[in-house]
Amino acid sequence: MMQVFNENKLLQDYLSSLDASISIGFVPTMGALHEGHLSLFKRARKENEILVVSIFVNPTQFDNKEDLVKYPQTLDNDFELLKSVNCDLVFIPTAKEIYDGHVVSAHFDFDGLEFVMEGEHRKGHFDGVGTIVKRLFEIVNPDKAYFGEKDFQQLQIIKKLVEQQQMPVEIIGCDIYREKDGLAMSSRNVRLLKKHRQEAPFIYKTLLKAKEKFKTKTITEVVDWVEKEFKKNSILKLEYFEITSEKTLKFSKRKRKGSNYRGFLAVFAGNVRLIDNIRLN
Ligand code: PAF
Repeated sequence: MMQVFNENKLLQDYLSSLDASISIGFVPTMGALHEGHLSLFKRARKENEILVVSIFVNPTQFDNKEDLVKYPQTLDNDFELLKSVNCDLVFIPTAKEIYDGHVVSAHFDFDGLEFVMEGEHRKGHFDGVGTIVKRLFEIVNPDKAYFGEKDFQQLQIIKKLVEQQQMPVEIIGCDIYREKDGLAMSSRNVRLLKKHRQEAPFIYKTLLKAKEKFKTKTITEVVDWVEKEFKKNSILKLEYFEITSEKTLKFSKRKRKGSNYRGFLAVFAGNVRLIDNIRLN
């Protein structure tokens, strides 16, 4: 039977009553669950004895008020989905419970990973993510925690966070889950207007072509090509496209032997902001 907890202490009491050898797999979410989340739950379910999922729309990681207010909330549907994967524990805390009256984020130094791309375009975002993930890890104390590669920068930052804070949790990145037409699954997709939804597969198609070009072209040539493709598209507006090494997330002009590269982008489809990325080599 799935149990629901709203208070840190009750959840912690329950978890500490379990045998210490029982492995806990944890998937933190902001709700509005979809098949992308489902793939994380299934993997966590398979690799652990207990599956804990949290649902908390974390206010401190939203740089844009409208995005926070309009963030989809579908709790009934979320419960059905969680039951379908035999989730053991769902943690749905209030902001008061998490932030103890001070809804502000701590400041983190993630060795520069936080300054580029999403960090550059969403001020304070990764301080908010660091704050909530650290807090949730302290409460749940999982053995393994699962994150989707759609938020690849977030995944690298969380790996850095647990390394810096010496938290005993293994961070596991999971492949991007896509709609049949290639659009990366995201809770924000339901907010897309019809014309934007219809045009959205252009994003992944362009990333796939960029991957093909990466085999023979320089980094600058591929970036220029992607920017030009989006300029020709009157419906989607490119905020950034960057190619970086997976490890450092730093731009480099030259391809270095032994480095893995990824292409990252953020796109506005009307007032909905979508992100995606692809491994290039
Ligand atoms: O990826 C998300 O849904 C959120 O950033 C997370 C990790 C649940 C923290 O609020």
